[in-house]
Amino acid sequence: MTDLKGRTVFITGSGGVLGSTYVRRMLASGARVVASDLPGERAEGLKERHGGNYGNFRFYELDVTDEAAVESTFMQMRGDGWEPNVVLNNAAVTGELLMGRGQDFPDFANTRTEDFEKVIRTNLTGAFMVARQMDRDIVGRYPATLINVASMYALSGPHHAIYDGMPFKNFSAYGVSKAGIHGLTVWLASYWAERQATVNTIAPGAVFNDHSEEFQRRVSNLVMAGRMARPDEIADVMLFLASEAAGYMTGQLVNVDGGYSAW
Ligand SMILES: NC(=O)c1ccc[n+]([C@@H]2O[C@H](COP(=O)([O-])OP(=O)(O)OC[C@H]3O[C@@H](n4cnc5c(N)ncnc54)[C@H](O)[C@@H]3O)[C@@H](O)[C@H]2O)c1
Repeated sequence: MTDLKGRTVFITGSGGVLGSTYVRRMLASGARVVASDLPGERAEGLKERHGGNYGNFRFYELDVTDEAAVESTFMQMRGDGWEPNVVLNNAAVTGELLMGRGQDFPDFANTRTEDFEKVIRTNLTGAFMVARQMDRDIVGRYPATLINVASMYALSGPHHAIYDGMPFKNFSAYGVSKAGIHGLTVWLASYWAERQATVNTIAPGAVFNDHSEEFQRRVSNLVMAGRMARPDEIADVMLFLASEAAGYMTGQLVNVDGGYSAW
């Protein structure tokens, strides 16, 4: 099992399917975990599951699109003695979050600029602001690592047909933001190298989250593993990237997609 003792991990968007798995697994591996998310049900659920600010768990509300809040959260972590040496840029607007479950999803021709920009603001500008704050406050003071979360749709386009008739769709800004986040990784890797900070991208494949049997069948046909991922299978690799064992890796894109990108 990956040992994360001595790691203080700050995670954005921690209340979602993958974020909450990272929190649970990292705590179990001995890390101190500073979880964060927008206020709401996910945040409340996470706090409840971990007994509030107790033991190795802390929670801070953070909207990553709010520049001042990003800055003050890092300040707060420092003041509270919970300054991280591992940061996960995990928060993202997914299709379901953008449009609300069950609502009609616009095709490309009808995609509103404000929706496109909302996704870029969260998935990419938010990640940039978190990385920049890490640069200002942490990088160079002690060894640290940043893990940016992309997707199998960062460097490969989606098979649009798998979304036919589904309540959610794949939308352009998502892939654009996820390609951009790996651009941030490679840019920062060389920029931070002399200051003992590493940065990598993880690109998860399709993770099972109560999807219909038909959707699972369509996705599974495109994946060498023949099935969707379990959240713990993504977390296994995330834990490795967050650990000292990944100390000689920087600027890399790690696909955890059951072979989707390798056909
Ligand atoms: N689940 C998958 O199949 C999959 C596949 C590839 C990549 N990913 C990526 O993994 C990451 C986590 O995905 P997930 O499946 O847990 O998604 P999710 O939708 O369950 O969780 C995303 C979290 O981000 C939070 N968030 C949204 N806007 C925010 C903001 N402005 N500030 C702070 N938090 C905000 C949400 O509240 C939510 O808790 C995302 O970056 C996603 O793009 C997921």
